[in-house]
Amino acid sequence: MKISLGCDHGGYSLKAEIVSLLKERGDSVIDRGTSGPGSVDYPDFALPVARDVAEGRAEFGILICGTGIGMAMTANKVRGIRAANVSDVYSARMSRLHNNANVLALGARVIGPGVAREIVEVFLSTPFEGGRHERRVGKIGDAERLGNQGGE
Ligand code: RB5
Repeated sequence: MKISLGCDHGGYSLKAEIVSLLKERGDSVIDRGTSGPGSVDYPDFALPVARDVAEGRAEFGILICGTGIGMAMTANKVRGIRAANVSDVYSARMSRLHNNANVLALGARVIGPGVAREIVEVFLSTPFEGGRHERRVGKIGDAERLGNQGGE
């Protein structure tokens, strides 16, 4: 699998852990930084990763900051991105089965490396269930196209 990865200073050490995991699994990694512990702005790393996924250079994106929140908020501004901020294995599985999430956002100050590794494994190996969820995810795409004009 081709995975695009990005983090800020809050997620820097966990990103190294996840890069090792992906390499052990045989995935190919696009590393969009940051490449050191110095303070940076998470949107500068979320956007390149989200665009890699939206434009087909990567199948999935993984973003890591202190909480995962800013990364998910930013990534979800990119058309076609469904970023899920996940801190447990159940939500990781459901984000794929029901929501067809294509970006995983992790909080390095929220979860430890062991849980993060399990979340990544489950996220990358769980397929979208489709069926009734296809219609619901389709409505997210409709909202993205219609913006403030959408809705009931
Ligand atoms: C950086 O201190 C922190 O705000 C950032 O890593 C992230 O948690 C934002 O959502």
